[in-house]
Amino acid sequence: MNFSTKIINWYQQNFRDLPWRNTNDAYKIWLSEIILQQTRVNQGLPYYLNFINAFPTVFDLANASEQEVLKLWQGLGYYSRARNLHFTAKIVVEQYNGIFPNTYAELIQLKGIGTYTAAAIASFSSNEPVAVVDGNVFRVLARVFSVNYDISQNTSKKYFQELAQNVLSEKNPNIHNQAIMEFGALQCVPKNPNCESCVLNTSCEAYKLNLVAELPVKLKK
Ligand code: ADE
Repeated sequence: MNFSTKIINWYQQNFRDLPWRNTNDAYKIWLSEIILQQTRVNQGLPYYLNFINAFPTVFDLANASEQEVLKLWQGLGYYSRARNLHFTAKIVVEQYNGIFPNTYAELIQLKGIGTYTAAAIASFSSNEPVAVVDGNVFRVLARVFSVNYDISQNTSKKYFQELAQNVLSEKNPNIHNQAIMEFGALQCVPKNPNCESCVLNTSCEAYKLNLVAELPVKLKK
């Protein structure tokens, strides 16, 4: 069984049922990803539900006043995220007739959307085969493949991006991407992961070499 099959099997037994996982609406997925950028799932969840409730479509968000948007954002911090959110909603209405883009190439051009977020929205909404790389993915890949490159270096980031793309499921990039992030969030956690109970332990290089606690390497904060 390859890495992708194993991680997808694990996911199907262990995933959290989160509302943005039950949709392929790029608008809703975008909202969830912006909210979750510097925010934990438990904290972001009520904000996501409030936003969807207040602004069910990108038109509703674009037509809102900045004050309304900032009010709903209150407590989440990093207010530039909320301003970019509002700005981008207006762009999508003006330039895309309110049809939220769902390809990586289009998404990466929008304000507030970087490589991770573009890959997340494209794969979750249209199953485009682009690998997501966030902190969870760095950790999982560094351990499973025993990679000791310093993840604060740009060259290492590039290496991990390519590795993530190489192991990505061609058939199910959507589920694969959700799965690797969920695996990092729930099983392959930063401190004291329970490797004895891990379904990947027989294929985890760091586990075999007793290097789990040392990986990933991050020298600069
Ligand atoms: N954090 C960022 N994106 C996420 C997602 N789609 N599911 C769970 N946690 C996330």
